[in-house]
Amino acid sequence: MITLGIETSCDETSVAVVEDSDKILSNVILSQLIHKGYGGVVPELAGREHLKAIMTVYDEALKKAGVQAGDFDLIAATYGPGLVGALLVGLNFGKGLAYGYDKPFVAVNHLEGHIASNFLVHPNLPEKHITLIISGGHTSLVLVNGFGRYRVLGQTKDDAVGEAYDKVAKLLGLGYPGGEQIDRLGRIGDRKYFRFPRGVIREESYDFSYSGLKTAVALHVRDLSESELEQHRADIAASFQEAALEVLVVKTIRAAKEFGVEAVSLSGGVASNSRLKELMQKHLSKIKARFFCPPPELCTDNAAMIAAAGFRRFGIDGPSDLNANAVPYLKLV
Ligand code: KG4
Ligand code: ZN
Repeated sequence: MITLGIETSCDETSVAVVEDSDKILSNVILSQLIHKGYGGVVPELAGREHLKAIMTVYDEALKKAGVQAGDFDLIAATYGPGLVGALLVGLNFGKGLAYGYDKPFVAVNHLEGHIASNFLVHPNLPEKHITLIISGGHTSLVLVNGFGRYRVLGQTKDDAVGEAYDKVAKLLGLGYPGGEQIDRLGRIGDRKYFRFPRGVIREESYDFSYSGLKTAVALHVRDLSESELEQHRADIAASFQEAALEVLVVKTIRAAKEFGVEAVSLSGGVASNSRLKELMQKHLSKIKARFFCPPPELCTDNAAMIAAAGFRRFGIDGPSDLNANAVPYLKLV
């Protein structure tokens, strides 16, 4: 069975062709560059850029996969959460194809897509595991009891962890998005240079908070001269990462112990972070739990994960209605 996946929830236009549950025939991802000058995603521009790009990305995905238009058996598109103007482009494109080619259509929850990215590449991932979805828009700790059965244990009360990375990158004069650059700088900086606050680390809950950390970095940078900032840029990046990541690791390990799971997976853009992977691996091995993470191209927003989630969702619920609308604040249930 061939599934066409479509993802346009934020600033990546992506179309993929996936065979059955796990064979990626193509996964074309176009990251919008237009937002770089603004230090964040501009919703109206994101929608317009998706409109300009979707047809070309679709053609390329079909060409790379070696399939003809209409050869697919199922069409899956993200319907939320995300930016409404952006979601509508991919969703309507998918529904149009489904109507035109008379194929079943399935509307996919973007968060379930991130969860599916691990099922897509790790056939040995235990059905029951803890997953941490960490991106520019989300910080959610989820107990997975097999595909489709989730219990959200905690999430951010304010900023997402990726958002904190991007804001700190801006304060340090790095480009947008800045996560990757902080990751790189953090490798050469002094992690003990400054102890930034670990938001809600002692709280019993599995929730997170990143606005205090972001403000603490802003205040620290404000008090530095230009030359001091130049001298300590890598140290601030490394110290910021230690604070941001320690909370993720501590809460994930606590949840793994409490729910007695044998495995933990990461997904979302921040899951590519080298220091986080190192820390998770180290702490999970101490409790004899296995660690799973998708390759970087499947961490970031992509349509292969949407096709994979759509294929499984279709198996559970059958097709979605062609009236399915975009739901910007869609939750994982
Ligand atoms: O999943 P994604 O592509 O889009 C959203 O759904 O938000 O995630 C993008 C986020 C950005 O905030 C970016 O700075 C962050 O992931 N990111 C990283 C790294 N690579 C991307 N954060 C930390 N370390 C990285 N290596
Ligand atoms: Zn995402």
